[in-house]
Amino acid sequence: MSLSTHRTTLSKFVIEQLKNSPDGQELAALLIDVTAAIKAISAIVAKGALEGNATNAVGADSPKTTNVHGEVQGPLDLLTNEIMLHQCDWGGLVAGMVSEEMEKPYDIPTEYARGRYLLLFDPLDGSSNIDFNVSVGTIFSVLDHGKNSNPTQADYLQPGSRQVAAGYAIYGPATIMVLTVGQGTYGFTLDHEIGNFILTHSNLRVPEETDQFAINASNERFWEPPMQRYVQECNAGKTGPRERDFNMRWIASMVADVHRIMIRGGVFSYPRDNKSNQNGRLRLMYEANPMALLIEQAGGAASTGRGRILDEQPQGLHQRIPVVLGSRREVERIERYHREFDAGTDKPFVSPLFNERSLFRPEARK
Ligand code: AHG
Ligand code: MN
Ligand code: MN
Repeated sequence: MSLSTHRTTLSKFVIEQLKNSPDGQELAALLIDVTAAIKAISAIVAKGALEGNATNAVGADSPKTTNVHGEVQGPLDLLTNEIMLHQCDWGGLVAGMVSEEMEKPYDIPTEYARGRYLLLFDPLDGSSNIDFNVSVGTIFSVLDHGKNSNPTQADYLQPGSRQVAAGYAIYGPATIMVLTVGQGTYGFTLDHEIGNFILTHSNLRVPEETDQFAINASNERFWEPPMQRYVQECNAGKTGPRERDFNMRWIASMVADVHRIMIRGGVFSYPRDNKSNQNGRLRLMYEANPMALLIEQAGGAASTGRGRILDEQPQGLHQRIPVVLGSRREVERIERYHREFDAGTDKPFVSPLFNERSLFRPEARK
């Protein structure tokens, strides 16, 4: 084992990367608080069934709460939410916080000073996977409120292009934190023995070419024709218009699917559908936006299928958004399929659903 003195810790990295930005040291301090929360969550998640509360199973007779999305909150969703709130609310760095697990923004307790940043997070992403020991994660986004006063709801509704930092942690075989402050995307691996995140993935680049896609294919019948076209062409492999074989991967933990794409390339999508929610499943403010910034900063692309995710003007704290992200060329191809569909020029591709699903015709959506 090398305990080299030359290793770059996450704290050192953010302090250095932000040293010339106005208010950069406050942002660095906030990111270090977020890191403390992530270390605590990593430790709890790693205990698995050894720790009473380290399961997300809701017992038959335990009280069930649901979040604003109508999803049952497990004990770990709630515990990790508390950890994020209380590691970050005390230091005079944030003006308020928004969490997947809380309908309303969290107000900073009156005894603490307010800072200028807004922190938005999904404390435990992929939490339905935890009981069978599949990787889960934490996703966060930082916006600049610009003043040290209590924010209104509208203050949070900034497009993702205005994020000043974003990141995720993946609690897998190793705990890895991937971070951007708008100057590239960097990965840090938690060294459990010394309790520090160490820079291990410098300037991550999403490969442009890929032969992997990630999508919940059980929803295929609910997608729009452009997405059906894309996946059917991938599935047709060498014998189809793409003239090469593709692989499909779906972990159902966005952090794990996105992390694979960071390293290996690929395209990830939770597209628009006509299942329960036209905008798919993922949440703009604390899932799509931070992942979009991280992917773009790594040279990839992130789209709704019809436009850049980071340009979306949010309408609500918990709004959902269609997501297509990863290797740039594939994302661009999926955008083109949407354009062709919207313009009615996507023939000669013949989807079996093309003419039957009138709901999907552009004129029917107006
Ligand atoms: P969360 O656990 O925070 O609710 O997020 C789960 C998300 C995301 O991680 C994953 O990509 C997607 O939901 C999986 O959805 P399906 O169960 O529909 O595959
Ligand atoms: Mn999530
Ligand atoms: Mn979650």
